Amino acid sequence: ALTVTTAGTVVTGTPGQAALPGWGRPKPAAATPTPGSPGLGDSYFPDYGNGGYDVGHYDIRLRYEPATDRLSGTTTILATATQDLSRFNLDFLLGVESVRVNGWPATFAREGVHELAVTAPRPILKGQQLTVVVKYAGIPSETLVQGYTGWTRVADGALAVNEPESAWWWFPSNDHPKDKATWDISVSVPTGVEVISNGVQPRDPLPEAGNRTRWSWRSVKPGATYQAFLAIGQYDIVTDTAPNGQPVVNAYSTTLGERGPAARASIERTAEVVDWESGLFGPYPFEAQGGVAGPVDGIGFALETQSRPVYGHSFWRRGANVSVVVHENAHQWFGDSVSVADWRNIWLNEGFASYAEWLWSEEQGEGTAQELFDFTYASYPADSEFWQVLPGDPGAGDIFADAVYDRGAMALHQLRLAVGDEAFFRILPAWTAEHRYGNGTIAQFQALAERISGRDLDAVFTTWLFTAGRPEVATAARGTL
Ligand code: ARG
Ligand code: ZN
Repeated sequence: ALTVTTAGTVVTGTPGQAALPGWGRPKPAAATPTPGSPGLGDSYFPDYGNGGYDVGHYDIRLRYEPATDRLSGTTTILATATQDLSRFNLDFLLGVESVRVNGWPATFAREGVHELAVTAPRPILKGQQLTVVVKYAGIPSETLVQGYTGWTRVADGALAVNEPESAWWWFPSNDHPKDKATWDISVSVPTGVEVISNGVQPRDPLPEAGNRTRWSWRSVKPGATYQAFLAIGQYDIVTDTAPNGQPVVNAYSTTLGERGPAARASIERTAEVVDWESGLFGPYPFEAQGGVAGPVDGIGFALETQSRPVYGHSFWRRGANVSVVVHENAHQWFGDSVSVADWRNIWLNEGFASYAEWLWSEEQGEGTAQELFDFTYASYPADSEFWQVLPGDPGAGDIFADAVYDRGAMALHQLRLAVGDEAFFRILPAWTAEHRYGNGTIAQFQALAERISGRDLDAVFTTWLFTAGRPEVATAARGTL
């Protein structure tokens, strides 16, 4: 989190002719401000995120009209410059009305698909504290990128839930998991509409002029920008306290009809699931728990939104589905607290969350992880396309391919077989402890697993994550069906 000590280095003078502190000593070589890069060089999405500054906190203050999908508001970004800056970028799509940097009006321009380039009204020095205020408005569901919007408008509201692109449609950000921050979100809606988001409610919904209500949510642990979410619409909210003393906030779309009880029979087990996962993965990293059951006209997937996953309606088709609750909450450790350093490392999220489902099955007496490994192995024929996707490097278009999930879980099972249960169940909490609220790479995970197990694991990682084709498995290791 950001600690604001001073308002930053005091710079006087006209833009481009900054009077540097230090009695007229020669300018340090690094003092020529340069533009912050328009991306962080992710190997799959090079222009996601931005260089030159590090965000500590977002204050996102919005107004939303369900009738028209109009979203307007102000986001205040607290950041620190990581280099001398002449300009810097934000990732954002909606129409920007104004930008101020430390109180000074700034000029800005849209560049590329999702870049908002902000010219520093005064040169910004490395280490300087920045307060960037962006005012904006737009209709997110009609703001399309290659025909696509990550914002889902529904009959009674909207869902801002997506991965990896989500923030673009509702708040300006440094949109890459490498720049984590805390956030406050407040949204004014017509009274009678609910707004659910991450973390805790620092105050009760506040009545406002014009028969409106303002909802406030606070996230106090650093999170990636795609973890921030909004669920706006007609929801029943159920609150409680978890065994670890934390607040639990669950919310159920009133549109679920006969799927409603199955949603409750699943999401109401969140605190139990988190309790069990804490025993395997280490202390729960966030300040609150819960889940949101989205509406029937909403998303077709679930997302591990920080402290409070959001679930599409289809998960409740056949009755309760605790597996998906196990999956999304496992992501609180694997994905949310320990985030990918590069989207290429998506296996660290999806492989682990999928393997958590196998561990839950084992715990529930519904089939051991070995049995699920065998079943999964047998369900993809050797000539299936499935085996052509590398979980350790699936490609930008395949980060959510079945192989990342299923072969990803198989890879973890092979690791478990290679190192033994004793080491395997020390590796998992060691990983979450070492990279808590940070980022990780597959190479770092392999190194940690090798350190803890005392084994060379190159063959396991290469075979299961980085080699196309179905690996051979010894019958003994494969067990019996
Ligand atoms: N991380 C999510 C999960 O596995 C998947 C999100 C898929 N995203 C999407 N837009 N379909 O739980
Ligand atoms: Zn997942």
